[in-house]
Amino acid sequence: MFERMLIPTIENRITVGIFAFLATLVLLGWAAINEGGRMKAFEELQHARAIEQGAGLFATNCTRCHGLDGKGLANFGPGLNNPQFFGHDFFPEITEQINSLNAEKVGLEAERSLVSTTDARKSEIDARLQIIDVQLSDLSKERDPQLQAAMDAGYNPQQPDRLASLGWVGTRDAFIITTLIHGRPTSGNYWPNGAMPAWSQTAGGPLRMDQIEDLAAYIQNWDKGDEWTLADLFAVKQFAKEPVDGAPLLILIEQLQASGGVLPEPVGTDVAAVLTSLEGVTGDPARGDALYHNQQTSQLGSSLACSGCHLQAQNGVGPMTDGTYTRASTERLADPALAGYTAQQYLVESILLPANYVVPGFNNAMLQDFGQRMTVQDLADIIAYLETMNQ
Ligand code: HEC
Ligand code: HEC
Repeated sequence: MFERMLIPTIENRITVGIFAFLATLVLLGWAAINEGGRMKAFEELQHARAIEQGAGLFATNCTRCHGLDGKGLANFGPGLNNPQFFGHDFFPEITEQINSLNAEKVGLEAERSLVSTTDARKSEIDARLQIIDVQLSDLSKERDPQLQAAMDAGYNPQQPDRLASLGWVGTRDAFIITTLIHGRPTSGNYWPNGAMPAWSQTAGGPLRMDQIEDLAAYIQNWDKGDEWTLADLFAVKQFAKEPVDGAPLLILIEQLQASGGVLPEPVGTDVAAVLTSLEGVTGDPARGDALYHNQQTSQLGSSLACSGCHLQAQNGVGPMTDGTYTRASTERLADPALAGYTAQQYLVESILLPANYVVPGFNNAMLQDFGQRMTVQDLADIIAYLETMNQ
């Protein structure tokens, strides 16, 4: 009776029923949505905990080299809380233009150094190279003064992305975790206060894998994406350093780990001292052959690629490899400019200080930095190989 008074007609009862049904649906839907929200909130909480634990681990283990705020410490360690570490370029258009001009320049210079390039083509190339140099210097003048403060702390404006400059193709997370696990055993060669240590217990360090992941979460949390400002860049106290001899860092690391952790000394350019050191070393002509033909890198991880210029064909950039030793011991030593030289001395000097004597008919085109890119053993092996070129 009472019911009938409240909802008197059948139509009204149906309407109420529909409303009740819809209300139940909304309620269920809300619960379902909220369940997702709770999951997300839970994950966020986990992530926040990882970052928090990472912060604690960073404060205990890392700040003495990477700085309290992760912005680096001069000569101790590079900034990680750093736009360059996260690949943010403040002048992407200029970087791209400079890269493409440099690529064009390298191609033209290679073409110019070929014996087969005609004089007419060479003057065309020279004209273009001059234009390129002016454009390059204009672009740098536009950009670099704005970055000077960072450049003073080691920033290279042409390398705005740390991982890309190392040729790293994986994720940033993998980069951080790999670095933490193994450390950078060779980096003591160019960081005066010591290398980046290995942290994982598997590599003899103090940290568990979950702690390394927490540290990675903490470091990644510094990323500001598109929000990085020049003020952030200028706050970095030390930027990453390029490895000593310019060889790709990762190759160096692999080689160093394979050889038990001690990076050998480069041979240098003191020819008299090198000749003395060579007396105590036996050269392996087969390895020399492999180094010469770029089938193996030097003990310093550098690609020597001698054969690239010393082609067997007549139109190589440098004298052909065949007969090098015969020419050295007969033709070259007959030149009054080389009076008193031994063949070995001539070969060593040709490799370490190629500008001292330029073979007649050739340009002074040989690279001048081999003394920094090979060890005494590498040199001994190459000389032993060249000594077999005696027909
Ligand atoms: C003894 C000083 C020292 C300590 C302690 C140290 N680092 Fe490093 N770290 C370095 C140096 C030096 C480099 C640069 C290595 C190189 O140039 O290859 C580096 C590099 C790195 C890199 C790679 C950066 C890049 O641009 O290549 C990461 C990531 C890193 N350290 C994280 C850490 C974390 C996390 C800790 C603490 C668990 C830590 N480091 C402790 C010295 C240190
Ligand atoms: C970019 C090109 C280039 C590369 C790379 C190069 N050379 Fe040369 N090399 C030359 C040129 C050009 C000459 C002749 C001019 C001179 O004497 O400097 C030369 C001269 C020499 C000579 C003297 C040859 C003779 O007949 O008297 C020797 C020996 C030599 N190079 C060895 C090497 C070795 C070993 C390497 C690798 C470690 C190497 N070169 C890499 C360009 C190159």
